[in-house]
Amino acid sequence: MREQDFEPANYVGQVDEGKVTYRSPSNIALVKYWGKKEHQIPANPSISFTLESCATTTTVSFTKLKSKAKDYSFELSFEGKPKEDFKPKIEVFFNRIEPYLPFLKEYHFIIETSNSFPHSSGIASSASGMSALALCLMHLEMELQPDLTIEYFNQKASFLARLGSGSACRSIEGPLVQWGKHETVGSTDLFGIRYPYKVHPVFQEYHDTILLVDKGQKQVSSTVGHDLMHNHPFAEQRFAQAHENLTKLRTVFENGDVETFIQIVESEALTLHAMMMTSLPYFILMKSNTLEIINTIWAFRKKTGTPVCFTLDAGANVHVLFPKAEKEKVDRFIADELVVFCENGQYICDSVGYGAKKLIDK
Ligand code: DP6
Repeated sequence: MREQDFEPANYVGQVDEGKVTYRSPSNIALVKYWGKKEHQIPANPSISFTLESCATTTTVSFTKLKSKAKDYSFELSFEGKPKEDFKPKIEVFFNRIEPYLPFLKEYHFIIETSNSFPHSSGIASSASGMSALALCLMHLEMELQPDLTIEYFNQKASFLARLGSGSACRSIEGPLVQWGKHETVGSTDLFGIRYPYKVHPVFQEYHDTILLVDKGQKQVSSTVGHDLMHNHPFAEQRFAQAHENLTKLRTVFENGDVETFIQIVESEALTLHAMMMTSLPYFILMKSNTLEIINTIWAFRKKTGTPVCFTLDAGANVHVLFPKAEKEKVDRFIADELVVFCENGQYICDSVGYGAKKLIDK
């Protein structure tokens, strides 16, 4: 697929009004996307587990205008309240995707959105939020062009979501989604693909408990963070490492090799933070409780042999990853030894999921 393939053919349908709701999940990267080129093209390939419980639900109602408007016409609410400060982000998004959805100025949109996770949890909602909105807009595209295949629908939804937020392109499907050119069959920089090789059952049911260490606003936005990879002294090495880690993961996923999985995933998380510590300007995004948690996980793993590990986003919260079979043991470990490091003792239990779902349309 090339970018031009996502420019629409002739619209045959006539749609005056409608409404659609999608629930789209968040995802957690195992090999991290960190660094990008123009037009939201990633500097290296990445792969993530799609989550199940952490999700955004978005309803879009659309009404055809009498004539094409000069500006985008939309209203936006978040958890039932108007959300003016999200509007510029949506305008940037609409502007980027208009070449591929030329009807955007022909409709008035009412966008209502809510998250399953607490508002101020420090969990980024851009992946779930942008993918849910992209899917709702694709629903209208599908009504205007009813012969689209499901495969094209998913690819274009992911392509559009990417233009809103890179990692959002990995939220359409599950349980494992890869994004970015790599030697892998079918991989592309333009959208995420469901991981095309064999995945051992252990990785199809993985669990992720998110420990909320710092529920505040992110210290560095990911867009600023990605920019720090330009002229970064270790950038080329890092991008090569991401390719190598993806190659290694192929046998790991196939054989259910949890031990090597742990090594790759923890190294990826620490490398992401190492990149931020060694950029100019430099940042330390972990808090002391992040380090306490990492050390406690390592000690527990050494003592009990339980295959539990951590990964991190560009922030202080910790994702604790483990196979389903270890749930009872790890839940007890978290309650006994890790909760003390969480802000107000808060954490979210999640597991691997299978992607976005349409809930209602009229
Ligand atoms: C550390 O997708 O939030 O979570 O494309 O600028 O919106 P933008 O960035 P974003 O970056 C996510 C970075 C990450 C790693 C990852 O999810 O792969």
